[in-house]
Amino acid sequence: MIDIHCHILHDIDDGPYNIEESIEMAKIAHLDGITSIVATPHIKDTLIPPEIIQDRIDKLQSRLYQENVPVRILKGADVNVGIPPAFLNDYTINGTKYILFEFPHTHMPANARDLIFKAIIRGLHPIITHPERNPSVIKNPNLIVDLADSNTFIQITAGSLIGDFGPYAKHCAIHLLRLGVVHFIASDAHSSTWRKPVLSDGVKVAEKIVGTDAVYRMVMTNPHFVINGSPLNVS
Ligand SMILES: [Fe+2]
Repeated sequence: MIDIHCHILHDIDDGPYNIEESIEMAKIAHLDGITSIVATPHIKDTLIPPEIIQDRIDKLQSRLYQENVPVRILKGADVNVGIPPAFLNDYTINGTKYILFEFPHTHMPANARDLIFKAIIRGLHPIITHPERNPSVIKNPNLIVDLADSNTFIQITAGSLIGDFGPYAKHCAIHLLRLGVVHFIASDAHSSTWRKPVLSDGVKVAEKIVGTDAVYRMVMTNPHFVINGSPLNVS
């Protein structure tokens, strides 16, 4: 599996405190069947220089090689939808046109469509992260259904499907799966203890709802296309 959303880099956001915990997270991911992780530090008020993100990745990758942990770390970011559009290209996934977009945790901004459009006219393909945890979407899932189209994709969190974010987020994640608007399941992991880089538990729940083939696309095929910058084959 490929995890396109994971706060695995240390001392850069609210993820792990040190590189030892990053390595522990990679080991957990490996045991769960994850082969590649997109490292996605929060980009919000502080625009972390892309070279710092890359430097952290290089250091982690070299430690993983030394310790025989066969997990590849790729560059990405968890980008707040409000950052100045001119900086968006610095924070795409693995240098492609795909970019993770996070909305405020409290609500869906009234200008969400405009913000997404500003990214699309720059040639980017936004992937909206964990809408199932957003109170506005929980209340009215059509807000996110209306945004998903041939250029804008949806990622839900594996933990939501097993109730880690409460019954409303779980119900909303399942509802979005049933509606067929989910393109990715990712971990959005932050640690080796309380929010771990594990996809398999959520995958099992999703498979019961939409079937094995659909879930395979969400954790294998679609992430593979994303990290390689290929078009997503969505109907
Ligand atoms: Fe995140």
